[in-house]
Amino acid sequence: MDYLEIEGGHKLKGSVTISGAKNAALPIIAATLLSDKDVKLTNLPNVVDIRTLLKLLTMLGGDVKHNDTVADINNAGINSTKAVYEIVSQMRASILVLGPLLTRFKHCEVSLPGGCAIGQRPIDMHLKALEQMGAIIEIKGGYVRAEAPNGLMGAKIEFDKITVGGTENVVMAAALANGTTTIMNAALEPEVVQLCEMIRDAGVDIQGIGTSELTIVGTNGVPLEFKTTDIIPDRIEAGTYLCAAAITHSDITLKKVNIEHIKSPIAKLEKMGCTFDVENDNITIHSPEVIKPTHLITTEYPGFPTDMQAQFMAVATIADGESIIEERLFENRFMHVSELNRLGADIWLKGSLAAVHGVKELNGADVMATDLRASSALVLGALAANGITNVRRIYHLDRGYDNLEGKLSLLGAKITRKKD
Ligand code: EPZ
Repeated sequence: MDYLEIEGGHKLKGSVTISGAKNAALPIIAATLLSDKDVKLTNLPNVVDIRTLLKLLTMLGGDVKHNDTVADINNAGINSTKAVYEIVSQMRASILVLGPLLTRFKHCEVSLPGGCAIGQRPIDMHLKALEQMGAIIEIKGGYVRAEAPNGLMGAKIEFDKITVGGTENVVMAAALANGTTTIMNAALEPEVVQLCEMIRDAGVDIQGIGTSELTIVGTNGVPLEFKTTDIIPDRIEAGTYLCAAAITHSDITLKKVNIEHIKSPIAKLEKMGCTFDVENDNITIHSPEVIKPTHLITTEYPGFPTDMQAQFMAVATIADGESIIEERLFENRFMHVSELNRLGADIWLKGSLAAVHGVKELNGADVMATDLRASSALVLGALAANGITNVRRIYHLDRGYDNLEGKLSLLGAKITRKKD
């Protein structure tokens, strides 16, 4: 199994180009199922999750040509509507094919995603919304079996809680439904916005993009014709590199960033003592020798993202004082805490709160990655720690960070991928 050997204690310098956003690309790849024409996607991140979803399209009968950052997809030949366990168990975002498959083909089976390292992550709100649109759904043999013999109908959906994937599934389902769907309490994440814009640019009337109330007028079964879609920059990858600079007291430049999308992490880093220069889509971070502690609460966009919680906790481990971090979105997203403590951090947990007492130094150790963002927090800790850290189970990192060790090496980090 691959692991990363990192010699910590070195400053970073230079610049890094941010890749396309995994979490924008995944629903957009699923949305190509709404079309029976050629679709071109550009600026895809070169990560395992993207390859997994493209493989699923191929298994369903889609024609996919994929070359690192570009995919040419044609879903005219779809001859199966079953998303099998083998794929869904590798990546729960495969549930995003449920809405598009059901609305275009009127029936589908999607393996029920199981538990997850960061929480229970049910899909009840996805299913309830589709039922409101007329779907008949049963869970049998570990699969969600859904049918809508006369097609889905527009409906008034109000999510009890903001859900990114739920909003995306319903937007896609509504695009080919019969009539108008209104989604209240919709997610505002930039990834949801890009999906809506792609569907709008294919001719679907969508009002309220970027707000919590979306209105979508469906095409009544007529497949869409998409324009080429260039995936937005990955705000979580960008935030992770900003944290890499902060934890190593370095100045680096990030290229191809959408600054609007990372306002909340930037504001936190400013309070921790970092300063920034912004020029078009480039941002340079200047990090102080002494990082101030922070107080943060994860919440939905435009609030502080849960996908940045672990990385900020890594930075807080070396701050001058006590930081308080509250995780409000997922019930089990603190798996990195015990591993950061193995590096000498001093973190205490109580329910959804973590108290991080800043320490003078971290020291290298063997640590184990548990999920994607927890893994990146361990890499950050390792960059700051004295001596060698081996980060194991990095298949989590490979799912969502494009060439992490290559990009960090270019910034001057001493990081090598090794095999056991
Ligand atoms: C998306 O997951 C992201 N994944 C996650 O990123 C991210 O952490 C999350 O949104 C929150 O921002 C993708 O975009 C592929 P949710 P998603 O539905 O859509 C609960 C990463 O590291 N909920 O907004 O699955 C749920 O349990 C990943 O890149 C229900 O209770 O998240 C959670 O507590 C990890 N019932 C909350 O809502 C439902 O039916 C928000 O989840 C759906 C969700």
